[in-house]
Amino acid sequence: MSFNNLDNLYRQVIMDHYKNPRNKGVLEEGSLTVNMNNPTCGDRIQLTMKVEEGKIADAKFEGEGCSISMSSASMMTQAVKGRSIEEALKLSTVFSDIMQGKEYEEEDLDLGDIEALQGVAKFPARIKCATLAWKAMEQGLKEEEDTQ
Ligand code: FES
Repeated sequence: MSFNNLDNLYRQVIMDHYKNPRNKGVLEEGSLTVNMNNPTCGDRIQLTMKVEEGKIADAKFEGEGCSISMSSASMMTQAVKGRSIEEALKLSTVFSDIMQGKEYEEEDLDLGDIEALQGVAKFPARIKCATLAWKAMEQGLKEEEDTQ
């Protein structure tokens, strides 16, 4: 596939997550809740997660933001559901590497739709958009680990 076609495909995946967000909503009271915003634009996300026996049993998000931030939140919730805390944090590290244009080790991690965001690395001003939901997820899981 040529680069242009790949870019188009990635753009379609991003717009699909933006228009049809997966896991939109708020989990019931008592779930792990993180509110975070991007200070440069004020866009925000509220992430709720249900962690059971060291696994993310469920995750939902609400928020307002640009297509990159909201599609990234949708992809992130899709990617971490069912994963252990450790795997989710590792995925977050891989995502951060991708955003910095670093080589990443795929190993056994299936990036799925997340791959569509790799082009964002070329636009430094948008990296904070793409990482907003991931930062929220990391913060929530680290707090959860600290209380164990
Ligand atoms: Fe605000 Fe993207 S412009 S998160």
